[in-house]
Amino acid sequence: MDLKNLFSPGKIGTVQIKNRIIRSATWAAKATNEGYVTDNLINLFKDLAEGGTGLIISGYIAADPSGAATHKMACLYDDSYISGQKKLVKAVHESSEVKIAAQIAHTGNGAFIFGNTNFNPVGPSPMINLVLNKPCRELTTEEVRQIIKNFVDTGRRAYESGYDMVQIHSSHGYLLSDFVSPFTNKRTDEFGGTYQKRTKILVDIYNQLKDELDKNFPIIIKLNTKDYLQEGLRLDEGKKIAKILIEAGYDAIEPSSGRYDLKFSKRKTYPTVMDKSGENQNYFLQNVKKLNPIMRGRPIILQGGIRNPLIMEEFIKENIADFIALSRPLIYEPDLPNRWKNGDLTLPLCTNCNGCLTVAATDTAYCVVKKKSEEK
Ligand SMILES: Cc1cc2nc3c(=O)[nH]c(=O)nc-3n(C[C@H](O)[C@H](O)[C@H](O)COP(=O)(O)O)c2cc1C
Ligand code: SF4
Repeated sequence: MDLKNLFSPGKIGTVQIKNRIIRSATWAAKATNEGYVTDNLINLFKDLAEGGTGLIISGYIAADPSGAATHKMACLYDDSYISGQKKLVKAVHESSEVKIAAQIAHTGNGAFIFGNTNFNPVGPSPMINLVLNKPCRELTTEEVRQIIKNFVDTGRRAYESGYDMVQIHSSHGYLLSDFVSPFTNKRTDEFGGTYQKRTKILVDIYNQLKDELDKNFPIIIKLNTKDYLQEGLRLDEGKKIAKILIEAGYDAIEPSSGRYDLKFSKRKTYPTVMDKSGENQNYFLQNVKKLNPIMRGRPIILQGGIRNPLIMEEFIKENIADFIALSRPLIYEPDLPNRWKNGDLTLPLCTNCNGCLTVAATDTAYCVVKKKSEEK
């Protein structure tokens, strides 16, 4: 087979994954308004599991009521959410040998972007949200400590729900990435200032989660390593932050970059988390290459506009990345990995139009291009 390496098993921590294809976290807007799992959400995960992906990372799941602003976002900040999450995980595990990670998050100052404009957002510092021109309130030190505890409790609930690992969401202008970036974090307490202090929240979450859980339960992170802003996070500093996280013990890193508020207020920044340009493929490759030397053998996950299976194969073969993560192509074609495995190596049908994200804000995240073609 041409894709021998892409379809070879890999490991994150002690968890064996049947191939190197990951579904990057994708909020589906299919939970109830209160954040409970629905049959629609379960069916989406079943389709992905049956489609051949090795590890599915859930859409972002709220770890705290103050961080659940996104439209129909799943929540896990109290025990009432566990039974629904258990059903979802069971459906994935039953349908095939697929592993599933819970991505846990706090929407922070990103609160207004895809949802409730009445939300009172919080952040490391009182920054204006660039899309809606509304400010967020600065968290007190005590509140930061409480949010760390809520991440830990949510991780424990993910474990109890049967997830194979958790991913901490520190990307895209949501709360944790705003702590890491000097653009949004102007604090003077233990959680702000030097890059080490701005990273403390991520180290504290890791250490407290490890103390709480089975030591073999992997904790991975999606990490903004660059803001594309003069006064923001630069890749050199992103690398130093990643090094701290690997030394703390994080089991894998999925580098990302960019902020949704900058993207939607049209204050550039390209390449961003969802680049539309078809030519601009693999746009976080430079981040992955930069971080490779500090990984100490821990897996690195390449995501962001990666589309060609032969290039994926090459990256895995050359040890440039250990896993490849896809989001939009799997919205259009949840069975894309099987299609490639069965020998049809044509590119994904997804056109990178970002229509799925636009409709998710008021409906659910479906592929508008596919829907149109089915209606013809
Ligand atoms: C509808 C939609 C929802 C997304 N939700 C999340 C999310 O919950 N968490 C996250 O880290 N990234 C999220 N992303 C970003 C993707 O995980 C990914 O980083 C980005 O789309 C680039 O990968 P791609 O080019 O393969 O789509 C979302 C993307 C889309 C299109
Ligand atoms: S709506 Fe556009 S970006 Fe989203 S999956 Fe469909 S083709 Fe891809």
